[in-house]
Amino acid sequence: MKKILISDPIDKNCISILQSYGYSVLYKPGMTPEQISTEIGEYNALIVRSETKVNAAMISKMSSMEIIGRAGTGVDNIDVETSTRHGIIVMNTPGGNTISAAEHTMALMLSMCRNVPQANMSIREHKWERKKYQGTELSGKVLGVIGLGKIGREVATRSKAFGMKIIGYDPLLSSETASKYGIELKDLDSLFATSDIITLHVPLSAETKYLISSENLKKCKQGVKIINCARGGIINEEELVDALDFGKVSAAALDVFEKEPPDFSQRIFNHPKVICTPHLGASTEEAQEKVAVQIAEQIHEFFESKKMYGVVNAVGLEALSKKEILPYVTLAENIGKIYAQMIRYPLKQINIYFSGEMLQSSSSVLSSAVLKGLLSTLLTEHVNIVNSKILAKEMGVKVNETNSEENSNYLNLLSVEFLTDSERKYFAGTVFGNNEIRIVRIDDYFLEVKPEGYLLFYTNIDKPGMLAAVGQILSDAKINIAGLSLGRLEEGKEALSVMNVDNQIDEKVLSKISMINGVTKVHSVRI
Ligand code: NAD
Ligand code: MLT
Repeated sequence: MKKILISDPIDKNCISILQSYGYSVLYKPGMTPEQISTEIGEYNALIVRSETKVNAAMISKMSSMEIIGRAGTGVDNIDVETSTRHGIIVMNTPGGNTISAAEHTMALMLSMCRNVPQANMSIREHKWERKKYQGTELSGKVLGVIGLGKIGREVATRSKAFGMKIIGYDPLLSSETASKYGIELKDLDSLFATSDIITLHVPLSAETKYLISSENLKKCKQGVKIINCARGGIINEEELVDALDFGKVSAAALDVFEKEPPDFSQRIFNHPKVICTPHLGASTEEAQEKVAVQIAEQIHEFFESKKMYGVVNAVGLEALSKKEILPYVTLAENIGKIYAQMIRYPLKQINIYFSGEMLQSSSSVLSSAVLKGLLSTLLTEHVNIVNSKILAKEMGVKVNETNSEENSNYLNLLSVEFLTDSERKYFAGTVFGNNEIRIVRIDDYFLEVKPEGYLLFYTNIDKPGMLAAVGQILSDAKINIAGLSLGRLEEGKEALSVMNVDNQIDEKVLSKISMINGVTKVHSVRI
């Protein structure tokens, strides 16, 4: 039975769904990192929100871990790189709190422009300060949205209804999609120069750290207003306060902070032009229920049928959810395994070619599968489809993925070329019907090999008696031949033979076969 630890407070539906599927669930919010590290070894999944910091030290104790699930969006509390290195899937719940975060952004925008929190405080002190809290309209203002993902686009849609002009910056969004949402795309500097209000909806990354800094604020309109409902650290809080003091920024609304819970003595928490909420963007009944249900179902889907939704660290693995790609994944893995048992020189480069629409749309997962087959045969550490690319990179093996249109004989053809300093090995394979996996080319030889069980590969001079000689040695060793495929370039020249046999061929038998006059390059392979 799979064991799941939930170490942050979460909606009760998450626990009941997982228990109804028969998992053993420990719900223990508030555990210290030390307590988690001590207990985590036996768990197969960990569910967190943002409180638990899943760092490298904790990950190093995760000997059975398969998935770390984040009930929410931002995964900056999880060391994703180290998780990937350990072959652990990290998934979030995309979309579960999008509407709540977008609505909270609107709440902040309206409150900031109409001084609602300050006026509320003043009236509670029994003051009637109508002039002091005069505000500004949204209508007619330019809203600059940085990050036009799920939340950024929802904010744009809602702000448009308030009569705002929406401009945006996001390196991924096409201008066609942007215009469907009524957003005019700009470069970052133009966005800074023309926005009346800037709202941030990007993840925290090396590129977005301190995106709002003195340097960029200098590029902004006098009196610009800033909203951050994304992540602390995207704004340099000290430099924002300076800009507020100089009047460059007229107001700021913040839901997230560089340090959470914060140090309230910081200037930002005591500035009259700043309104704050304690990271409430996703704090609605609806969002908390949605993300809790979503993470429970996603984890179950993975454990039950390897389906992957919301995976953030192994892009392309969602392709494994398509049934028809699975035999190609096996083919890819088996090509990797076969070559791993033939390799003689240090591998430099692997070129993988995808022919056919289905393979092209799943290229990333197929490459990972080739690398998994190769590396799991060669390395002692645990290799899976999540960490195989990272391990290949660490070993300095260059992997190129290319869509190829050249093949005309097969609907889908996967070709893999392994390059060392002194040799090149090439395999191509396909799947016949639903599940008939075949290697149809090895180097320049066209043949039809079932890549399964025990295989014997050898080249020989194309002349009578060669097959009989090999067959005799196998027969003497009581090894039955289950299948045979032959390929040759020209009559009387070199030929390649591949046999499926029923047992492992030991070194003694192999060396006898190698000694047959005219037989070369003998390899025994086990899949
Ligand atoms: P998303 O992945 O759908 O969108 C993020 C967008 O940012 C993407 O389109 C991406 O291309 C863009 N982007 C990345 N780097 C960029 C850069 N340097 N410049 C411009 N654009 C860049 O994510 P989302 O669900 O919309 O979430 C957005 C942010 O909101 C995240 O930081 C998330 O953690 C945060 N969030 C906060 C709360 C909250 O409680 N306050 C709730 C949910 C999400
Ligand atoms: C998120 O990234 O999903 C939000 O910040 C909300 C949360 O931390 O749960």
